[in-house]
Amino acid sequence: MDTPLAVRARGITKSFGEVVALDEIDLDVAQGQIHGVAGPNGAGKTTLLGLLLGLAVADEGRLEILDSPVGRTLDAPGGVAGFVDGPGLYPSLTARKNLAALATLRGGDTRAADIDDALAQVGLTDVADDRVRGFSLGMRQRLGLAAALLTRPRLLVLDEPSNGLDPAGKKHVHGVLKRLASEGATVVLSSHRMDDLEALCSEVTIIATGRVVFTGPLGKLSSESQELDYRLLTSDRETARALALETPGVHLGDESGKDSGLLVVRALVPALDDLVVRLVHAGVALRELAPVVSPLEAAFLALTETESDAAPEHPSQQQESAR
Ligand SMILES: Nc1ncnc2c1ncn2[C@@H]1O[C@H](COP(=O)(O)OP(=O)(O)OP(=O)(O)O)[C@@H](O)[C@H]1O
Ligand SMILES: [Mg+2]
Repeated sequence: MDTPLAVRARGITKSFGEVVALDEIDLDVAQGQIHGVAGPNGAGKTTLLGLLLGLAVADEGRLEILDSPVGRTLDAPGGVAGFVDGPGLYPSLTARKNLAALATLRGGDTRAADIDDALAQVGLTDVADDRVRGFSLGMRQRLGLAAALLTRPRLLVLDEPSNGLDPAGKKHVHGVLKRLASEGATVVLSSHRMDDLEALCSEVTIIATGRVVFTGPLGKLSSESQELDYRLLTSDRETARALALETPGVHLGDESGKDSGLLVVRALVPALDDLVVRLVHAGVALRELAPVVSPLEAAFLALTETESDAAPEHPSQQQESAR
């Protein structure tokens, strides 16, 4: 049997005047999943997440959240919590009082112990009685997450929750999200960072100019079927370069690392394997071999790049000449 869906969107379209922010978006998010929404600036991520939170209404299409159809009026769907464009907080109140005030507004039965627990989960216990006015971006993000946790959401929607987080903050936030998902809640979050999504999400949806260009497991995205640039550090750059030139399917890349002995080659994995074998046969030692950008990042760029902003073939050389 199919896993029940926490979000089911079909043909969602949303325009702001002339700008089509979302153009017939389909999205399935299984319950208990951490689902990433990625895409370049202006792709439509915040707009999409805002619809899930009931902050705006789609112009067209059908949206079902936690098995209920979302109507045409502005209303936060039950069981859903989160924020877009940063959490709304009271700057003059302390972190603890912010959570208490939000709980009172919601009219629930939140206890002081629940507030302490939420603050501890996001790692803000030490600053619980400091005014939010002095909080950094990362601290505000974490407090926003704590506020959402207090509602015991079945669907948590977070717009770029990793923004401004230091490594400790990221660890707290990732831990909280993973625990929520393991307890059956669903998380939809956006990010520009594929490494972030890789650490958290089982599936991602990539949008570019309002359209879905990929949706599915991350493994499917970073398949080995694409040519990548690899950094190759050997004991003998010149011989390695000559061998790269004669290996079928291997192309020379950016030559700007010449002085440090670095060679950049572009190839599919089998051609790269062939080159490595040739290096070893020729007595050239391999000291480092790694993709210049991660396979996930490369797939993301390939899917979202438009002709006007296509990356130059040798970015570092371009920077050189621009100086
Ligand atoms: N309230 C609004 N009024 C007018 N245009 C808007 C509004 N909100 C979004 N847009 C436009 O809709 C498009 C999508 O914007 P959105 O904020 O959803 O992108 P995003 O993927 O979240 O971008 P970013 O990565 O910069 O946060 C953009 O072209 C944006 O200018
Ligand atoms: Mg945004």
